[in-house]
Amino acid sequence: MVYGTPAAAATPPSSAASATARKPMSLHRLREMHASGEKIVMLTAYDASFARHAADAGVDCLLVGDSLGMVVQGKASTVPVTLEQMAYHTECVARGNSTAWVIGDLPYGSYQQSTAQAIASATTLMQAGAHMVKLEGGGWTAAVVQALTERGIPVCAHLGLTPQSVHSLGGYRIQGKSEAQANTLKAHAQGLSDAGASMLVLELIPATLAAEVTEMLPIPTIGIGASAECSGQVLVMHDMLGVTRGKLPRFVRNFSLGSESIEAAFRGYVAAVKDKSFPVLGEHTY
Ligand code: KIV
Repeated sequence: MVYGTPAAAATPPSSAASATARKPMSLHRLREMHASGEKIVMLTAYDASFARHAADAGVDCLLVGDSLGMVVQGKASTVPVTLEQMAYHTECVARGNSTAWVIGDLPYGSYQQSTAQAIASATTLMQAGAHMVKLEGGGWTAAVVQALTERGIPVCAHLGLTPQSVHSLGGYRIQGKSEAQANTLKAHAQGLSDAGASMLVLELIPATLAAEVTEMLPIPTIGIGASAECSGQVLVMHDMLGVTRGKLPRFVRNFSLGSESIEAAFRGYVAAVKDKSFPVLGEHTY
C-alpha cells in the first residue's frame, strides 16, 4: 500500500473479487444466518486498514471494542476509554470497512447515568458509522436496551465477564460458575432479549451455560471464551494475530501462525469459526 492512500481505495487483488461479490451485512442477514445455523464471525477492529482486511477476508461483524483502551492505548483496563475516542475509532473503521456489520462499543460512563445519556451516546456512535451499539451488563440495562431499540438503534448486549466492571468483579475471571450466578446470568439474558437486544456477547463463562443461554434465546449469542455452542465467535484482533504480549487467555488461538499475510490469518479465523473447528471444547473453553 502506498503511504497515504485511503484504505478503502487500496483493496488487495486477491480479496477484491470476493468483497465485491458479497452484499453488505445487515441485521436481516444476521438473523437468517442464525436461523440456518451458520456461525457468525466477529472480530474487533480499531482502524481503517485492518477493518478493510478483515471485512475483505469475510468477517461478518467488526466490533469497535473499548478493548482499544488496552490494545491500542496501552491502558490497564477499558475503564478510561471515552465516548469521543470510541467515536473517532468507529469513524476510522467505518471508512475502511467494505461489507461487514459495524458495532460501536458504548464505553464506561456513557450509558449508566440515564436513558437520555445512553440515547445521546448511542447516537454519537451511530453517526460515526456504527450499525449497532454494544453495552455491558444485565438487569437495569434492559430498560436502556428497550429505549435504544425503540428509537431504531440496534443493540448487542454483553454478559459474563464484563470488562468495564473489572474492579467489582475482582479481576478478569470466569463468570457464572455457581448455580446462583448461572441463574442470574440466564435471567439477565432473557431480560435483554425481551427488551429488544438483537445479539448477545457471552464472555468467559462455562461451555454448558453458554449452550443453555444459546438454546433458550431467539437471538444469536457470540462467544469469547464461551465455546462453539454459541451462534458465533468474537476475538480481539491483537490477540488472534499474536500481537498481544504475555500470557493469553486459553480461549485465544494465534491465527497468524502459518499464515502468509494478515488477511490470510483473518481468512483462517473466518474458516475455522464457520466450520466449527474453533473454538475446541476443552482446549479453548471452560
Ligand atoms: O471491547 C471488546 O473488544 C469486547 C470484546 C472482548 C467482546 O467487548
